Amino acid sequence: MKKYNIAVVGATGMVGRTFLKVLEEIKLPVENYYLMASARSAGQKIEFMGKEYIIEELTENSFDRDIDIALFSAGGSTSEKFAPIAASKGVVVIDNSSAWRMDPEVPLVVPEVNPDDIRWNKGIIANPNCSTIQAMVALKPLHDKYKIKRVVYSTYQAVSGAGLAGYQDLENGLKGEAPKKFPHPIAGNCLPHIDSFLPNGYTKEEMKMVNETRKILGDPDIKITATTVRVPVFDSHSESINLEFYNDFDLAELKEVLANAPGIIIKDDPENNVYPLALDAAGTNETYVGRIRRDESVDSGVNLWVVADNIRKGAATNAVQIAQKLIEIWSEN
Ligand code: A2P
Repeated sequence: MKKYNIAVVGATGMVGRTFLKVLEEIKLPVENYYLMASARSAGQKIEFMGKEYIIEELTENSFDRDIDIALFSAGGSTSEKFAPIAASKGVVVIDNSSAWRMDPEVPLVVPEVNPDDIRWNKGIIANPNCSTIQAMVALKPLHDKYKIKRVVYSTYQAVSGAGLAGYQDLENGLKGEAPKKFPHPIAGNCLPHIDSFLPNGYTKEEMKMVNETRKILGDPDIKITATTVRVPVFDSHSESINLEFYNDFDLAELKEVLANAPGIIIKDDPENNVYPLALDAAGTNETYVGRIRRDESVDSGVNLWVVADNIRKGAATNAVQIAQKLIEIWSEN
């Protein structure tokens, strides 16, 4: 079997380190790995796959060698500059930043949902926003079966989504220290503010959920609104998702549809206090769905509670699964 060469750009960061963990778990046919970050980390040693790797500085010449896939998580401006350079040298970039997501030339992929969009990539494939990814895993099978008319997202997002600095704000805030990353204390608080505010009153995070959902489901007509909230949870995003359908549904059948969909684990036994929890999802690759109940305020609607590890399924796992599919597609020929 052919083996491939993979670069990890941003290997020292929170998502980058999780890329490495997930790559150790999901075995891909790989000959060489190249781990890259900024000049600040060049020369730093990282233990990976039982070997010691030395971090290389990302430069314009980093891709002047036989690299097949580059997993990028080094911020939007790094992706804007370096993803096209890598792509021009024949590398397929799987980019975790928001830089390329809404570019019509760039597929935006959740492997359980729209794997075939990988096929039309022109050298860059975008990994969606963390809160969008887990929602898509749950929405896709329901959209296929009942056709979604409207979505109301309300999110409860972990501080790890704001990187190490977010994590530290919660840790230090619990000891009574003032926040450095967030504009208000996160310990004991909920901040209805993720990313910056836009002229329409929504935040960028909220509009990412709106626009990325339409792109991934391939349906520009779905009506969507979102309120995204940072909560004092270290890992895993939780989401209340309210859906309205065009078609009628039977609740037992809808639960079956979700249970049979790829990437989902149902946790829905409220009598026994069983429902998806952030603490249970942390460190896993699946999306958990529960509190599945009819929305009695509309003709055909349902409420869901959807939880996943935002750094794993919401970022690193999804990107590595895209790489896995890409290799499967290459192997078809
Ligand atoms: P470094 O550790 O050298 O700063 P996080 O999202 O946790 O802040 O991590 C960001 C990742 O992106 C880190 O690995 C960081 O490397 C990397 N990074 C940031 N800026 C650049 C850059 N200009 N070139 C390459 N890597 C970068």
